[in-house]
Amino acid sequence: MSKKAYIATFGCQMNEHDSEQMAGILSNMAYETTEDLAGADLVLVNTCCIRQKAEEKAYSFLGRLRRFKKKNPDLMVIVAGCLAQQEGSRLFKKSPGLNLVIGPQGIHRLPELLREAEKNVRKITCTELTTSQELPGHVRSLNGKRTVTAYVSIMTGCNNFCSYCIVPYVRGREFSRRSGEILKEIRGLVEQGVREITLLGQNVNSYGLHGDGGCGFADLVRKIGEVDGLDRLRFTTSHPKDLSDDLIECFGSIKPLCEHIHLPMQSGSDRILKRMNRKYTRDDYLEKVAKLKGVCPHISITTDLIAGFPGETEADFEDTLDIMRQVRFAGAFAFKYSDRPPAKAVTFNDKLPEPVKQERLSRLLALQKEITYNRNKSMVGKRAEVLVEGYSKSSPREWMGRARTNEVVNFSGDGDLPGKVVTVAVEKACLHSLKGSLAGE
Ligand code: SAH
Ligand code: SF4
Ligand code: F3S
Repeated sequence: MSKKAYIATFGCQMNEHDSEQMAGILSNMAYETTEDLAGADLVLVNTCCIRQKAEEKAYSFLGRLRRFKKKNPDLMVIVAGCLAQQEGSRLFKKSPGLNLVIGPQGIHRLPELLREAEKNVRKITCTELTTSQELPGHVRSLNGKRTVTAYVSIMTGCNNFCSYCIVPYVRGREFSRRSGEILKEIRGLVEQGVREITLLGQNVNSYGLHGDGGCGFADLVRKIGEVDGLDRLRFTTSHPKDLSDDLIECFGSIKPLCEHIHLPMQSGSDRILKRMNRKYTRDDYLEKVAKLKGVCPHISITTDLIAGFPGETEADFEDTLDIMRQVRFAGAFAFKYSDRPPAKAVTFNDKLPEPVKQERLSRLLALQKEITYNRNKSMVGKRAEVLVEGYSKSSPREWMGRARTNEVVNFSGDGDLPGKVVTVAVEKACLHSLKGSLAGE
């Protein structure tokens, strides 16, 4: 009888992708994944520590596990991901009952480490960061599962050291996978029925910049755009400083490339952008947006924003609100600044009080809500091209898919639709999605 593994994933798409890979490794080791925590023989917690809240969530989940470990002392508990990298063996003290702590670069060593941990001889930590690494072949298999969309990791790490950010410390230096490997993986996924690929990296625009990879990012996008049977291509995340004209051009010429870009702005104030070490100005950002809209007038742009960075004045903050009104982002993830040692901003001595950060965050969210809702409302009465992913979360009688511009569309209609690109008549706008009905296959 196979053993059961429960996987909890926190954090970004990288972590989701890493969890998929670890699920593949575990299945090769005769572990079947389960949704039932109480019945699990192994629990793998893939953690994030990007902001204080993310870290708290991971610790709270680990706290919940104690009860299960008490009931079943043989329960194998593995902590993976960025918090594992950051805390290493300190986690064994902070959260007793763990067997194995494994950083993001240690994933491919999971089989040997797990076998060793199963012998129960000692607690194991694997968190060395290498400077240059040959990325292991991807072990993920869809196991005959019908999946319409898939992530493909094209690079790992980050060299940017934005002053607030912990990622360069926990994910190590930038390293790009060979383009041939990436194409092979994508062709394989398309053969298994995948219709949409999202390329992943902390900063995809610097793909291949260090002589690795085999080509630059725009070239990679062009090559992938030619893969037979691939309907849609997306990528995330783009750093504005490295968004080249060559890549911008791709939005006008590569058919599968969807009309959406996630382009984190962080702040609309030059003074704050400088202190964040972002290496672009407000005008640079606006110029890139203008170029994108020039090539692709209906492109939807989403962003990340930080409220209450150290030293942010009311005037700096107003600059952020102002640029949000100018660009009219389709969506924004907004966060309250939090200290993430050893990131540089931890040493800035002009931190803002919690209530100020909170109040600014609320204003950011309120403005974005209004912009997103108005954008969604302007789509009512129009048609959207939707790639159907499966049943809608809210109603099993409705389908769910995404428009090319990335809005979630829930709609009614008959047929076996998952994996198909259909036309939907948009009838209603909600805050986070659109509603409609099938208007053609
Ligand atoms: N590599 C991506 C994003 C990584 S983290 C990029 O460069 O855009 C996702 C978002 O978390 C960041 O864009 C930023 O808005 C936010 N973030 C990162 N560190 C933070 C911190 N210390 N406090 C608040 N928000 C933070
Ligand atoms: Fe963090 Fe900046 Fe790297 Fe993004 S580009 S992961 S925000 S250091
Ligand atoms: Fe979190 Fe690590 Fe991603 S810190 S946001 S899981 S890269």
